Amino acid sequence: MSQLRPPALKHLRLDRLLANMGYGSRREVEALARAGKIVLDGEAIHEGDQHIYLRENLSQRMLVDGEALDPPPGMALMLHKPLGVTCSHKEAGPLVYGLLPARWRRRDPAISTVGRLDKETSGLLLLTDDGALLHRIISPRAQIAKRYLVHVATALKGDEAQRFAKGDLMLEGEDTPLLPAEFQPLSAMTGYLTLHEGRYHQVRRMFAAIGNHVEALHRDRIGGLDLPNELAPGQYQLLDANTLACVFDRG
Ligand code: URA
Repeated sequence: MSQLRPPALKHLRLDRLLANMGYGSRREVEALARAGKIVLDGEAIHEGDQHIYLRENLSQRMLVDGEALDPPPGMALMLHKPLGVTCSHKEAGPLVYGLLPARWRRRDPAISTVGRLDKETSGLLLLTDDGALLHRIISPRAQIAKRYLVHVATALKGDEAQRFAKGDLMLEGEDTPLLPAEFQPLSAMTGYLTLHEGRYHQVRRMFAAIGNHVEALHRDRIGGLDLPNELAPGQYQLLDANTLACVFDRG
C-alpha cells in the first residue's frame, strides 16, 4: 500500500456543519434544507443528515439562501487591527471580533486571535479556528519573527541595536533574559524591531528597560507574511494555504 496516501477528508452532517458555522440551530438548518435553500454544485440538498466533505473550495460550491457559504472550519485570516480595539472575547469596549461578520462569532470551534496585540498597537493580526495551527505559530520553539515599527518618545541613542541583539536584556519582574532581537533605526525616533518570542507588552517593556518610552507601535510582518498596503485598518482578508505558508518562511 502507498505510504503517500493523502489524509482522509473530514466530513460532517450538513445540519451540524452549518449549525457550527453559526447559521442557526440544527433544526433551523434542517428547515432551510427542506425549503431548498441550501445548494451544492447547483443542486438543492433537502436532507440535513447528508454528509458534506470539507474541501477548501466548499464556499465556492455551496450557496445558503442564495449567498456563498462562509469559510468552512479550518479557516485563517489576517486583520489590520486598528488602534483602540482589544484582542479579547469578553472585555468591555470594542473587540477585534466585532470587526468580523456577526455570524462568525457564533462559530464552534470559535475563531481566536493568534497571540495578541495591545489595545493601543495596530497592524497585522492573525486569527484562526484551527487550534493546531494557532499553537504551531505561537509555540516558543517556532520562534517565528514578528516585526514592529516603533516610534519612541526620546531620540534613539544609537546603541539600541547592540543592546537588544546581545540576548541578555532582563525585563522587570522576569527571571530569564530575552532572546536576541534585531533593531534597525529608521530615523531619530523610529525603527523596526524584530522579535522571535512574544512576552507580555514586550516591545514597550524593552524600551522601558533601556530608558525610553514607546509612543506608537505597529506590527507589519509575521514570518514572511507582510500586512498588505491595501488592507485598511479594520479590514480583514482570508488566507489561502500558500499565503498562510509565508508565516513559516524564515526569509
Ligand atoms: N509588544 C508590545 O509591547 N505590545 C504589543 O502589542 C506587541 C508587542
